[in-house]
Amino acid sequence: MKTGGLLVLVFALFVDQGATCSVSSPQCYKNTTQPDDDFLCEWEDRDPSPDADYTIFMKTSSLNESSYANQFKAGKKLSVLIPVEYLITTRLLDIWVLRQVFDVTCSSSNISVLLDNSVKYSPPNVQKKTRSAEKLILRWPRVNDHKGAVHEIRWKTFNGAWQNETFETEDGKSNDDWISYTMQLQEHTRYQVQIRRRAKQSLLWSDWSHISNIPTEIQQPVVHWIEETHRGKREIRLKWNKPPTEASFGGVSYNLTLILPCKKTKRQRIRSNTYKFVATDSEARVTVVAINDVSSSPSQEIIIPPVEHLKYCHNDSYSLPKHYCWEWYQLADGENRTSHVSISRKNTLEDIKQGMQEYVRYYYFLHDRRKQQQHTIRACPVYSTEGAPSSPPKNVTVVNISYDSAVLWWSPIPVQDQHGFLMYYLLWVSKEGQTLTGHHQVPANETNFLLRNLEPASSYTLNIAGKTKIGVGPNSTRTFFTLSNSSSDIETTPGDDLLPGMRMEIMIILIVCGVVLVCSVALSFAIRRLRTKLFPIIPSPVISTAAMPQMDKQVKLGCSLKQKHVTSLQEDSPDKDEENEDEEDCVDDDEDGSHLKAFISNDKPSFFPNPNYKGQLLRFPETLEITDRAQTESCEVNTPSYTNALFI
Ligand SMILES: *[C@@H]1O[C@H](CO)[C@@H](O)[C@H](O)[C@H]1NC(C)=O
Ligand SMILES: *[C@@H]1O[C@H](CO)[C@@H](O)[C@H](O)[C@H]1NC(C)=O
Ligand SMILES: *[C@@H]1O[C@H](CO)[C@@H](O)[C@H](O)[C@H]1NC(C)=O
Ligand SMILES: *[C@@H]1O[C@H](CO)[C@@H](O)[C@H](O)[C@H]1NC(C)=O
Ligand SMILES: *[C@@H]1O[C@H](CO)[C@@H](O)[C@H](O)[C@H]1NC(C)=O
Ligand SMILES: *[C@@H]1O[C@H](CO)[C@@H](O)[C@H](O)[C@H]1NC(C)=O
Ligand SMILES: *[C@@H]1O[C@H](CO)[C@@H](O)[C@H](O)[C@H]1NC(C)=O
Ligand SMILES: *[C@@H]1O[C@H](CO)[C@@H](O)[C@H](O)[C@H]1NC(C)=O
Ligand SMILES: *[C@@H]1O[C@H](CO)[C@@H](O)[C@H](O)[C@H]1NC(C)=O
Ligand SMILES: *[C@@H]1O[C@H](CO)[C@@H](O)[C@H](O)[C@H]1NC(C)=O
Ligand SMILES: *[C@@H]1O[C@H](CO)[C@@H](O)[C@H](O)[C@H]1NC(C)=O
Ligand SMILES: *[C@@H]1O[C@H](CO)[C@@H](O)[C@H](O)[C@H]1NC(C)=O
Repeated sequence: MKTGGLLVLVFALFVDQGATCSVSSPQCYKNTTQPDDDFLCEWEDRDPSPDADYTIFMKTSSLNESSYANQFKAGKKLSVLIPVEYLITTRLLDIWVLRQVFDVTCSSSNISVLLDNSVKYSPPNVQKKTRSAEKLILRWPRVNDHKGAVHEIRWKTFNGAWQNETFETEDGKSNDDWISYTMQLQEHTRYQVQIRRRAKQSLLWSDWSHISNIPTEIQQPVVHWIEETHRGKREIRLKWNKPPTEASFGGVSYNLTLILPCKKTKRQRIRSNTYKFVATDSEARVTVVAINDVSSSPSQEIIIPPVEHLKYCHNDSYSLPKHYCWEWYQLADGENRTSHVSISRKNTLEDIKQGMQEYVRYYYFLHDRRKQQQHTIRACPVYSTEGAPSSPPKNVTVVNISYDSAVLWWSPIPVQDQHGFLMYYLLWVSKEGQTLTGHHQVPANETNFLLRNLEPASSYTLNIAGKTKIGVGPNSTRTFFTLSNSSSDIETTPGDDLLPGMRMEIMIILIVCGVVLVCSVALSFAIRRLRTKLFPIIPSPVISTAAMPQMDKQVKLGCSLKQKHVTSLQEDSPDKDEENEDEEDCVDDDEDGSHLKAFISNDKPSFFPNPNYKGQLLRFPETLEITDRAQTESCEVNTPSYTNALFI
């Protein structure tokens, strides 16, 4: 019994092994909910064998007259596509797969499905991802049946765990082919996202979509550039910062747009953060847009300015190469180009000038267009027609004025008003009362001029104007006074320079007067002395009354005159009228002296006979000499003469 039981067990095991076939139960589905879709049945074989043949069986569970049963050979494949017309899709079917290797067969377990509901969508293909800060918008195409579906979306931070969410979409209209979904994320964190979907009536989920990398929003790159100039061309190297890993997650690329004059705009997508190109001497523009999986930065425009504009070209001759290109624009202010740039691949400079406005400065480039030799042949400012400047130099000021020099400053004539190439400034200098005294040409690049050899305390008038080859523009006029040469006399008036000379004359006159006066006083004193010596014998009041007032007046005048003179010397501020008075006084004294002399000469013969008084007479002049000039003393000197006269 025991062995029998064991045999039963072994048999049972054997039967069991036969029943547990290596083929999984099949899955049959169509791609969409549309009724005419064909079905795909697929299964797996845990023990694949090159000799295995597969057949799939289908039949309705209950057997009656409308029952259905069918089988389809799959050959050696693990799937078979079955056209819908061979199937019953509206009734529950049992489906299994028979595996046959030579004459060994086994069957998978049964599944029981209603094929109409057996829909397995393709995984969503997330094509558009847009992120701005925290907000992420995902977009993918609908299934072409336009039916609403159930979606499951899952996301995680780079090293985190999945989080999920499901949502349903409504049936779509035929023109709305995209589904979009908006989610909130943390701003500075990168994520990974997957989505799957299923038809509402189906239990079959689609596969998960590919993992979508969600970097952070990308920022505008900071671009630096350097140039290396060669003859007529420049090698430009651009470089910009790489974005942080959060933003470059999933890859970064850059859209470059290169705009060069006379050339087609070039667009390029690169992955490197450097870029090199060759530009001519005129302006080049490059725009850089950084792009990552979810965003693109605002475009960054880099303007490579033209090589510094020349102020003047001395030589107008040129020769045209086989392929060339003119580029020109207004340079109205002499520095900045207008936005409108003209291009011509034919014509001559003269033809081009035809289209230019008169008196307006333009700037042109002549580029060689030959492939290997692209460079700028010429670059020059140009006028179609030149004129004379329309405005004078502005803000003309005279500074640092001294007695013989001054500095003239001005603001240059704006290029708009120059109406041509300014050759130089014409500067006229004229002194008041005279016609032109100076005429200068100042180079056009200067804005100041040192005026030398001016005369002190004079009024000068300056006229300054710009000159082009056509003519001279209007004048700016300034008048100024040079300083007086005397450092103490800051404020000067014309005619003041006459004073020093005049003062000198007056001084000489006064000194002469003084000397004459002293002499005459001394002389009159001596005479009086003599007289007193001569007349004591016959003292007569007639003589004293007649002579004394004369003497008295003279002495008083001498005192007052001397006093005035001293005062004038000390104060050094003589009043003209006062001086004249002094002069008059002095003249009066002279007259008085001559009266006195006349008087003395008349008396002379009667004086000398008495020699006794000679010694006394000689003594007094000594005293007089010692006390000379001092007003009080000279007055005292006179007193004894009077007393003597009285006493003797
Ligand atoms: C479903 O779609 C895929 C790809 O679009 C296709 O290869 C496959 O044959 C389709 N299946 C059915 C049953 O139409
Ligand atoms: C599956 O079910 C059908 C009846 O619906 C039956 O005839 C068939 O033998 C079954 N197949 C297996 C492998 O169980
Ligand atoms: C046959 O069986 C199915 C269920 O399996 C049933 O729906 C159908 O009505 C039956 N037909 C007849 C004629 O009995
Ligand atoms: C999230 O996933 C878990 C496990 O896969 C599942 O049980 C749960 O239902 C899902 N939640 C949502 C909202 O889909
Ligand atoms: C980048 O350039 C490609 C073509 O090179 C273009 O299709 C794409 O739209 C551009 N992207 C951006 C953001 O400009
Ligand atoms: C102008 O340039 C040409 C060559 O470009 C030269 O032959 C000519 O001598 C130059 N003239 C002057 C005035 O420099
Ligand atoms: C040229 O443009 C720059 C920048 O706009 C400005 O600072 C400068 O003053 C302009 N030059 C003239 C002459 O207007
Ligand atoms: C004026 O003179 C001073 C000293 O001589 C000098 O430093 C200054 O630069 C001058 N100013 C001008 C505008 O020439
Ligand atoms: C004149 O000078 C003033 C002040 O110094 C300045 O603001 C103005 O721009 C100047 N004018 C010109 C035409 O340079
Ligand atoms: C003007 O140009 C001359 C040469 O052309 C130069 O020597 C001088 O320094 C310039 N002056 C100014 C103020 O730039
Ligand atoms: C400018 O002034 C100078 C000198 O006074 C004179 O010769 C010239 O004619 C004036 N120019 C104008 C345009 O007034
Ligand atoms: C002005 O004064 C200076 C010294 O201060 C002197 O050298 C010069 O000769 C004087 N000029 C005149 C015209 O007096």
